[in-house]
Amino acid sequence: MTRTDSTDAAPSACRLRPRAPRDDAWVAESIASVWGAVDVVSRGRVHRADQLPGLVGERDGERVGLLTYHVQDGALEVVTIQSLAPRTGVGSSLLDGAVRVARDAGCHRIWLVTTNDNTGACAFYSARGMRVRAVHAGALEVSRGLKPSIPTRAEDGTPLEDEIEFEQWLGAEPPVPALSGAALREHREALVRRHMQAENVHDFDDVIATFAHPRYELVGTGRVHDGEEEVRAYFQQSRGAFPDQRNELHALHHADDAVLAEFDLLGTHLGPLGDLAPTGRAFRVRMAALFVFEGADLVCERVYFDSGSILRQLERP
Ligand SMILES: CC(C)(COP(=O)(O)OP(=O)(O)OC[C@H]1O[C@@H](n2cnc3c(N)ncnc32)[C@H](O)[C@@H]1OP(=O)(O)O)[C@@H](O)C(=O)NCCC(=O)NCCS
Repeated sequence: MTRTDSTDAAPSACRLRPRAPRDDAWVAESIASVWGAVDVVSRGRVHRADQLPGLVGERDGERVGLLTYHVQDGALEVVTIQSLAPRTGVGSSLLDGAVRVARDAGCHRIWLVTTNDNTGACAFYSARGMRVRAVHAGALEVSRGLKPSIPTRAEDGTPLEDEIEFEQWLGAEPPVPALSGAALREHREALVRRHMQAENVHDFDDVIATFAHPRYELVGTGRVHDGEEEVRAYFQQSRGAFPDQRNELHALHHADDAVLAEFDLLGTHLGPLGDLAPTGRAFRVRMAALFVFEGADLVCERVYFDSGSILRQLERP
């Protein structure tokens, strides 16, 4: 039955209220019934979704829907949304409620991720005016590392591989140029962390998206990769040599026009590196990267390191 079925009375309105302690057991059961557990992974982060703030939808005194959310960095993430009365407006009410919560919290954006098999959810978010911000190809492999119970295939056999990120801006887009002081510092730090995490999961679309102008300056080798095309070629070449290349962040420091990151870079030499055939050896080297900003915009990552210390580890007998 849908809302257009003229032989049945239209469903009564779905009323929203914040979740209350009496909902706790139902919230946990409801989330586990869809996500297999109360842990829900999005963009490489595990949420205990049953402990998040949420909205409960009720119709005629019965619970008919649940939405949980997480507010961070001026944006509200819808972590879970589910309707017990599909195609009767419950999902829409919940999403409208999330927009109100986001506005009240001073957020400029709501966003969420779904998986590539969930065509119904994608149709729903599109119908509700949300837009695809990014397709994170292969992201579910990372999620599976955090939550091994995530199956490799959906019930209909579709391989579960990608995260699809939807967003909706709640005001002028984007609001960041007006940032200053602590808010600017917070924005820059969040962007640098997102950038380094996206590098770790090889989500290069997202790495590029963190730049206003993509540019790497590798002081250790004297190479500069400027513009999206050159930066993508650099990703392809460096990850060809070190397919598991990743960083372990130690500290971030703020300067007037930059954020300085101290980190270890790690990788295993499994592909050609210039003239050097794959050695199969791993390296770990301490580095510093200056993330250069113009206001709120990231315009360059300038990396200081000793390339000799990498080569010595690869070439050791
Ligand atoms: C996604 C979900 C929350 C939508 O809730 P809902 O109560 O069915 O949504 P609504 O009734 O408000 O739908 C609004 C519009 O979205 C679109 N829509 C919703 N579900 C759709 C589907 N399965 N296929 C195509 N379009 C859909 C339609 O345009 C619909 O309007 P219509 O019914 O008048 O045609 C619900 O399907 C659900 O609980 N799914 C299971 C859990 C889940 O996958 N959650 C999302 C995880 S990311």
